[in-house]
Amino acid sequence: MSEPAEAPFDTGLRPEDLDPERPRPVESPWGTLALYLVEGEVLAAEAFCPHLQGPLFQGTLSGSTVTCPWHLWRYELRSGRRVDAACPPFGPDARPIRTYRVERTPAGTLALRPARPA
Ligand code: FES
Repeated sequence: MSEPAEAPFDTGLRPEDLDPERPRPVESPWGTLALYLVEGEVLAAEAFCPHLQGPLFQGTLSGSTVTCPWHLWRYELRSGRRVDAACPPFGPDARPIRTYRVERTPAGTLALRPARPA
């Protein structure tokens, strides 16, 4: 039997509220997340880096990859996986970032759900 889907969280934001140059942090039931506008697609992921909690949402975006401003670890925003060559294979810091599915509510706002169980 599958688990019931977690209720979506309505951010109250619309895609036009997002700036492709400045990811938007939002408080959610799952902590602080960031909304990214990448080539017209809204992507959502945790806002702080698993390594020492650097402000990942203030990092540099290249396509759908964000580079943490503190120690330059890179994450792919769709999968959440680390994609830099120095990625350690083990340890709590090696985990992917949590990503979130983005849906539109009937009112046109952006709602989020965890992409996979926490
Ligand atoms: S805090 Fe992000 S790479 Fe170290």
